[in-house]
Amino acid sequence: MAGKVEGKVVLVSGAGSSPDGWSNGAAAAVLYAREGAKVVAADINIAAAEATAAEIAGEGGESLAIQCDVTKETEVAALVAETLRRFGRIDVLHNNVGTYAVEALEDTSEASWDRVFAINLKSTFLLCKHAIPAMVEGGGGAIVNISSIASIRWAGADYFSYYSSKAGLNQFSRMIGRRYAKNQIRCNTILPGLIDTPQIRSNLLKDFPPERQEEELAKRHRRCPPGRMGTPWDIARAAVFLASDDSAYINGVELPVDGGITL
Ligand SMILES: NC(=O)c1ccc[n+]([C@@H]2O[C@H](COP(=O)([O-])OP(=O)(O)OC[C@H]3O[C@@H](n4cnc5c(N)ncnc54)[C@H](O)[C@@H]3O)[C@@H](O)[C@H]2O)c1
Repeated sequence: MAGKVEGKVVLVSGAGSSPDGWSNGAAAAVLYAREGAKVVAADINIAAAEATAAEIAGEGGESLAIQCDVTKETEVAALVAETLRRFGRIDVLHNNVGTYAVEALEDTSEASWDRVFAINLKSTFLLCKHAIPAMVEGGGGAIVNISSIASIRWAGADYFSYYSSKAGLNQFSRMIGRRYAKNQIRCNTILPGLIDTPQIRSNLLKDFPPERQEEELAKRHRRCPPGRMGTPWDIARAAVFLASDDSAYINGVELPVDGGITL
């Protein structure tokens, strides 16, 4: 049976994981490949991108790892050019890269604010700017952006640059969806809730001694209405849906994938 994105070329930013393990981007890249896509795994950390590409190759899929800092326009232009050189087209652009800095407002430096905005928002602007012309030329496609439930609500932490850059990403995505609908390009956004990724584990647990870590993780699970955090695969399945023709008439939405925590 054909996969949900059979034959499509998918470019995933932040397709590695920090630290090792299944991040949202790595899981999405692998699931796109399992559903029949050729996947460009882009990451600032080439070893992380290569690990994802190797996973895909190990399952019999086709993937290309490319090193790219997606906050730099020259690197993004080169990433898109290399994708087109290798695969000839871009059908799906998946903007996964994102970061945060927990810090009191009065302690937030201009450099920290700019860094979070560059990674969370400028990266998607640059990737859209350089990939959309090829998507238009190819007859259309789908853009999937990874935001956060923190873009629409207080999430219990002092990270104002995260709240606002992700909110900016939501509106950028809507306007891209509206503007390029006539070119058969859809642009939708996923708002992950509390997801159990290696990055979250390491940040959450770093301040606790080993004997306290299980309980800290359990607390985070208990905060979620189903009693468990989401997994990167929950996000990946939503992404494949939004990238596939199953969502052919869905454009400009923000889809919470959060087990109902925003309720
Ligand atoms: N984990 C959660 O609970 C959660 C919740 C809400 C939203 N999100 C969002 O999900 C996305 C992925 O989160 P994650 O925890 O899986 O990420 P992660 O920290 O594992 O990052 C994925 C990859 O992005 C790469 N990366 C970082 N900066 C880059 C740059 N400038 N250029 C290219 N690659 C870069 C890293 O090297 C890493 O391999 C982010 O946008 C995040 O905001 C996560």
